[in-house]
Amino acid sequence: MKDDRLSRILLDRAEIQERIRTLGEQISLEMRGLTPCIMPILDGGMIFTSDLIRQISLPITLIPIKASSYGKERISSGRLDLTWGVSPLVRDQDILLVDDILDTGLTLTKLSSTLLESGARSVRTCVLLRKHHAAHLHSDYIGFEIPNEFVVGYGLDHAGQHRNLPDIRCLEIEEKA
Ligand code: XMP
Repeated sequence: MKDDRLSRILLDRAEIQERIRTLGEQISLEMRGLTPCIMPILDGGMIFTSDLIRQISLPITLIPIKASSYGKERISSGRLDLTWGVSPLVRDQDILLVDDILDTGLTLTKLSSTLLESGARSVRTCVLLRKHHAAHLHSDYIGFEIPNEFVVGYGLDHAGQHRNLPDIRCLEIEEKA
């Protein structure tokens, strides 16, 4: 049997909100003149996106996309499922893909190429967190660099749990006999 144990707070709610404020300012400046189509990657990117868009002072549209590579495990399956497919409304849009975390890069890489193949004009990416081992992977906007630990809270889950925590915490999982 497995038992979740939340350990230390890695990022508290105040630092998260302050960083999102500056990210919103930067995006507003760098995407000025455009009407970005903000695309939260569900489920994990939902909470980050809802705070981020309120810090963007541009007209925007919003098209969520649902993608999953993890299932119930803590290791990526290496396969990306687009549960709802890709909306035809992405055609000719300047997309800003928003995800919770950059880990193996599979989600952003595959989604970016799928969106361009579906007719998007441009695709930029924004992640709240980038793990240390993903430092070589590009994202246009990055909130925080974090250690290679499994984290939960603020949209991030383990087996569907902990998404509603307001802070981001490390997770330890104990194997019980
Ligand atoms: P990739 O590997 O595609 O990862 O860059 C992006 C997706 O992987 C999930 N992920 C995590 N989820 N804690 C989580 O709750 C983590 O530490 C973690 N690392 C990766 C997440 O769903 C993300 O969208």
